[in-house]
Amino acid sequence: MSGGVRGTRDFYPGDMRTRNWLFGKFHDAAKAHGFEEYDAPVLETEEIYTRKAGDEIISQLYSFEDKGGRRVSLRPEMTPSLARMVMARSGTLPTPIKWYSIPQCWRYERTQRGRGREHYQWNVDIWGMSDIRADVELLSVMVHLLRSLGLDENDIIVRISNRKVLEQALGDLGISGEEFTKTCVIIDKIDKVPEEKIKKMLTDSGIDLEAISRILSIMGVNDLDDLASVLGDESPAVKELRSLFGLCASYGIEDWIQLDVSVVRGLSYYTGTVFEAHDRKGELRAVCGGGRYDKLIGTLGGKDMPATGFGFGDMVIMELLRKKEILPNLEPDIEDVVFCLQEENRIDAMAIASKLRSTGRKVDLILEEKRMKWALKHADRVGAERLVMILPEEWSRGKVKVRDVPTGVETEYESEDF
Ligand code: HAM
Repeated sequence: MSGGVRGTRDFYPGDMRTRNWLFGKFHDAAKAHGFEEYDAPVLETEEIYTRKAGDEIISQLYSFEDKGGRRVSLRPEMTPSLARMVMARSGTLPTPIKWYSIPQCWRYERTQRGRGREHYQWNVDIWGMSDIRADVELLSVMVHLLRSLGLDENDIIVRISNRKVLEQALGDLGISGEEFTKTCVIIDKIDKVPEEKIKKMLTDSGIDLEAISRILSIMGVNDLDDLASVLGDESPAVKELRSLFGLCASYGIEDWIQLDVSVVRGLSYYTGTVFEAHDRKGELRAVCGGGRYDKLIGTLGGKDMPATGFGFGDMVIMELLRKKEILPNLEPDIEDVVFCLQEENRIDAMAIASKLRSTGRKVDLILEEKRMKWALKHADRVGAERLVMILPEEWSRGKVKVRDVPTGVETEYESEDF
């Protein structure tokens, strides 16, 4: 047998150390902003994803029928599960709800650099606040994380727009509701698909040529004042974007962000602010994506509640950190290696290791018969602080020899003191 399922990953201990390091940074950035962790099952009913037509994510579902004949699916994203959880407790949860999670998500996608069929996705969301302040707080969480990984505004750009830009532009042409949502999903592909194909997809979905040229011309705007001159100063989209950019300056994150009207996002539930983070060089797929989705619960049959959030995958960011060569060199988390030179001291070594462990030390007890040279090399390889040696002569004098691994300095201690 060779390899696991295509597009899935194994995490050997070295990979796991890096993953835990990254997840630790996810936890820290969320906690620095007062978010609480939640979780949900990886298996959901299929219908929480298929209610919305047009989303590419639906064609990528890992879904099947369970033994009870129910249609179920591995989650491709966390947001519908979160909406389900919030809905189930609606009215009883104090708002705003500020929650985060690091779920594994499954999508039957074409595998490529930075895209797999499973990935971990840090999700950070705020429910119960329609003010733009919540959107900016999320951008702050994201930038906090990026900085904590050793990245700066020369590495990453966060492109921001607002669905209301297109809503207004298309609304003037009589495109709204479902039709508008479907159009957004097509327009999201502008960067990835040739313009002719986009035009064809738009015409196929019933959009006329005048509307198409309006869409494409507005997509080219990347200055707020220019946008205001197209949509008017009183446009809700312009007002929200102005307020967002102003608040980002108060957070000191204005150098990370940029208006880009072509960002609409591929998921149909977004209703306001939308954003995507990319590497500045534009070599990799999106590092992160999110936005405001005030009407998702309604589509699941509940009472709407304003919400905003983002998903930040583990794959592209790791590519970027690897490319920049700023991934830390992490060693196993071992403090003491306990070693006995002679078999006659085996039980003494066990007792010493147990005592050390009971005091909270992280101890690797060498279980096999090994030479001193091997023990020294091993202690160094695992990055231990100390090599605790039970040697026949020293032990008979009631002593234990301890080597400080980084310096090589050896000291004898009373075995009683261990
Ligand atoms: P999304 O843009 O589909 O949004 O995914 C968010 C991020 O997850 C992407 O930017 C990328 O880092 C990562 N990602 C997605 N698919 C893959 C894949 N196949 N392989 C590797 N990484 C991937 C959402 O999922 C929204 N639910 C995010 C959100 C949360 N919006 C509001 N709250």
